[in-house]
Order: sequence, then C-alpha cells, then structure tokens
Amino acid sequence: MGRGFSQIIQETPDYVHLLSKFLSYKLFNKRSPIYGSADITNVCNLHCEHCYWWLNRKENEDLTVEQWEKVIDEKFKKQHVFVVTLVGGEPLMRPDVVELFTKKFPNHACVVTNGNYPLPRFDKLYFYWISIDGPRDIHNEIRGPSAWENTRKNVVDYVEKYGEKAFKDIWISMTINSKNYHTIETVIEDWKNYTNKIGFQFHTPFMKGDPLWLPYGEKRNKVIDEIIHLQKTKYKDYIANPKKQLELMRGSWGGKGTVPIDCPTWTIISVDHMGREKLPCCIGSAEQDSMKPRCEDCGLGCYSVSLAFGLRG
Ligand SMILES: C[S@@+](CC[C@H](N)C(=O)[O-])C[C@H]1O[C@@H](n2cnc3c(N)ncnc32)[C@H](O)[C@@H]1O
Ligand code: SF4
Ligand code: SF4
Repeated sequence: MGRGFSQIIQETPDYVHLLSKFLSYKLFNKRSPIYGSADITNVCNLHCEHCYWWLNRKENEDLTVEQWEKVIDEKFKKQHVFVVTLVGGEPLMRPDVVELFTKKFPNHACVVTNGNYPLPRFDKLYFYWISIDGPRDIHNEIRGPSAWENTRKNVVDYVEKYGEKAFKDIWISMTINSKNYHTIETVIEDWKNYTNKIGFQFHTPFMKGDPLWLPYGEKRNKVIDEIIHLQKTKYKDYIANPKKQLELMRGSWGGKGTVPIDCPTWTIISVDHMGREKLPCCIGSAEQDSMKPRCEDCGLGCYSVSLAFGLRG
C-alpha cells in the first residue's frame, strides 16, 4: 500500500519506536517485540489437514470487543509493536474484532484468512494474507471440498468491487509441504493477476515423521532454487521473500528438538484467543502441557525473516 504525506506524518511516532527498537537491540542487545500476533477467535469454518491450530485447541470461549481492547492496550500498545497480524481459527468470523484492531493500528494490522467468507473492506487494514496451499485440487485435498473455489470467488469479487488498486490489499501465503512442493509456479500463475504479492514458508511439524514435512535435502533445495530463480527472472516484484530468508530454509535454522535457539522468538508477542501469551512462538500455546512445534524442522516465515535481517534468539 502506498502511504500519503499526511499518513507518513501520523505514523512518524511508529517509525521512531521501530528505529529505537533496532538501535537498542544492535547497541545494547535490548529485546523488545516488534510485531504482534493475535488469535482473535477460537473457531474455524475449515479443518485443514496441515493445521497446527487444531492440535492444541480446547475451549470454545472467545473474548468480547471490550476485552480485546484491554488486551491490545496491555500487550501490544504498551510495547509499541509496529504491525499486528490477526490469526485464529478464522479471523473473518470476528469482523467486529478485526475492525477494532484496524482502528487501534491503522494501516498496521494484517488479517491471515482462508478466504472462504466474502472479504470485507476494512478502511484501515494493512492487507489480507490469503492462505493458498496449491492448485485447486491439492488445495481442496488439504482444506476441504470447494475451499479453493470459494476463496477464488471472494478474491476476484473483492478486486472487481473495490477498484483498480484493490489487488494491492491482497497477498498470498503458501505453506509448502510434501503434497504441494512441485506446484510453486502454478500457484503464482493462478493468483498473480488478482493479488499484490506471494510469500512462501514451509510446513512446520509438531511430531517427528510428520508426512507433510518436506525433509531437508534434494527436494527441498530444488524448491528453494526454483523460488529464487523465479524471483530473479519472471516474478521479481511478486515474490516477497528475501533471498537470505529462503537460503535459511534449506536447513535447520531455529533450534534443537522443540527448543528455540537462534530463532528470535522475542520479536513477536503472540496471544491466544483469551489474550494469554503463547510460547515458544505464534504457533505454540499458552498451555504448559501443550504439543510443541519442532524448532529443528521449522519453516515459518515470520521468524526466519527476522533472523535473515540479523535479529537473533
Ligand atoms: C492457523 S491459520 C489461521 C488463519 C486462517 N484460518 C488461514 O487459514 O489462513 C494461519 C496460517 O498458518 C498456516 N499453517 C497452518 N498449519 C501450519 C503448519 N503446521 N506449519 C506452517 N504453517 C501452518 C496456514 O496455512 C495459514 O496460512
Ligand atoms: S482455515 Fe486456517 S485455522 Fe482453520 S483449519 Fe485451516 S489453516 Fe487452520
Ligand atoms: S518459529 Fe516457533 S517453531 Fe519455529 S524455531 Fe521459532 S520457536 Fe521454534
């Protein structure tokens, strides 16, 4: 999204905080979260094969808008986080909470969605991340019948309804796994005319031997080579991942077993659907006895990008 002059003036304090966070880290190793992530609902309209969220899900409860406002002030505003990402469950099942976040973080709140509901136009939304897991048939195998068709319709409707720049509000997020790793360029071709950018990450397992994890080695390296090549040649402005981050994804970068080591977990403060802090990271849980992600095999984009820019655990 482009930023006008008055918007830049309004946002100057945000950038000052961001700069001071970077400088405090570089000069004094002081760690203060830069991003926020919130599971704004504990409900989902899909049950995807690969999804970490179902692994630790227990309660049906969700917070009210007033309760979320308190969480925002106590967890995110106090620490001057720069961008907040809304996740779940399916965040579009709580448009009232999305609206609140876009008001509290104008142009600094993203929504990650399965795109199976019509996409509302939030005045001050940063952008939507739309999750796509392959071409139609593979996506539907992972996410359920007609999931791809619903998402397609809702994205096209949004772009056609809200004018020639509306495509800028939509980014694709593809989580690469053993079922879809060979479909990178097809996914790009499917979506490039309706969306602004695509970001890739890799499936992160919660148990050894997860068949969806794409093992380190030849196949994975080939996928990374392909993305780097496509970025260099045909889709320079469309593929969002920095090359350094993609290089990290060739092997284990985050930690050992289920313990984060180099992973800069401190860069993102993550809360669950009750506003409780999740550990060790945004795909973890607030419960002590929860299932833990395998840091050793991690492919998450949001933390590896920070490590690629020199922020360490
Ligand atoms: C949990 S979903 C919540 C938002 C929304 N329901 C959606 O599907 O986009 C957030 C993102 O995590 C991704 N995801 C789910 N399980 C994952 C895993 N085990 N490893 C990496 N990413 C995963 C999803 O594909 C989606 O892009
Ligand atoms: S739609 Fe999102 S939260 Fe729901 S099961 Fe799928 S990946 Fe998980
Ligand atoms: S992002 Fe989470 S799973 Fe990945 S290395 Fe960091 S703490 Fe571990």
